[in-house]
Amino acid sequence: MKKILENFKKNRHEFEHGHLEGFDGDNPYELFELWMTESVENEENEPNAFVLSTVDSDHQPSSRIVYLKDIIEKQFVFYTNYNSKKGKDIATNDKVSMLFFWPNSSRQVRIQGKCTKVAPEVSDAYFNLRPRGNRLGAWASDQSDELVHRTDLEKKFMDLNNQFDEEIPRPDHWGGYQVEPTYFEFWQGRPSRLHDRVVFERVDNAWKIKRLNP
Ligand SMILES: Cc1cc2nc3c(=O)[nH]c(=O)nc-3n(C[C@H](O)[C@H](O)[C@H](O)COP(=O)(O)O)c2cc1C
Repeated sequence: MKKILENFKKNRHEFEHGHLEGFDGDNPYELFELWMTESVENEENEPNAFVLSTVDSDHQPSSRIVYLKDIIEKQFVFYTNYNSKKGKDIATNDKVSMLFFWPNSSRQVRIQGKCTKVAPEVSDAYFNLRPRGNRLGAWASDQSDELVHRTDLEKKFMDLNNQFDEEIPRPDHWGGYQVEPTYFEFWQGRPSRLHDRVVFERVDNAWKIKRLNP
């Protein structure tokens, strides 16, 4: 490990993939769409995975990866267990942060906003698209609660598999959240650490745009 860390200190990554000078739009959703499209073209690993950070009632932040599954009426949608750690955090503090990292393109996007549950019909529609195993998993897992024996989870899964026929309803504790952004920061790595950072901040129903020092 020591050697690996030594190498991290010595290694210098040059960022030579692009810049933000060509973009003169005032709509962060358009830029996000462009970058997501390019991240797929650039064969990023898991381009729709992002780090979701929440803050609990003691002001303790915590982060984990979830998948972006949709953008509905300008809100970024992901799905999870409402009783999970993140679900409990969001219930006490609806302010969250999202972070996409696309290394093949030397890009990151930071988004901040307010998080609310999606309409039940939206969660139902997505739940019904999921394979049977995933739908059973949503019933079987008390996400983020302590699991004493893994075999207990596996047994619960098997029992549920026998209990449900073709139709599996969505459990009330599982569904989507939507994040309404108030802040976007697009970061494009550039040579000599002179990176581009462009911020779109929601002020009085309009997007205020500025550049930040790298
Ligand atoms: C690539 C990847 C994608 C993931 N996608 C999701 C997801 O969409 N929803 C989810 O609830 N957990 C997802 N997870 C698991 C979460 O990172 C996390 O372990 C889980 O949601 C429990 O988090 P919590 O205890 O902070 O609530 C994913 C993990 C990885 C590594």
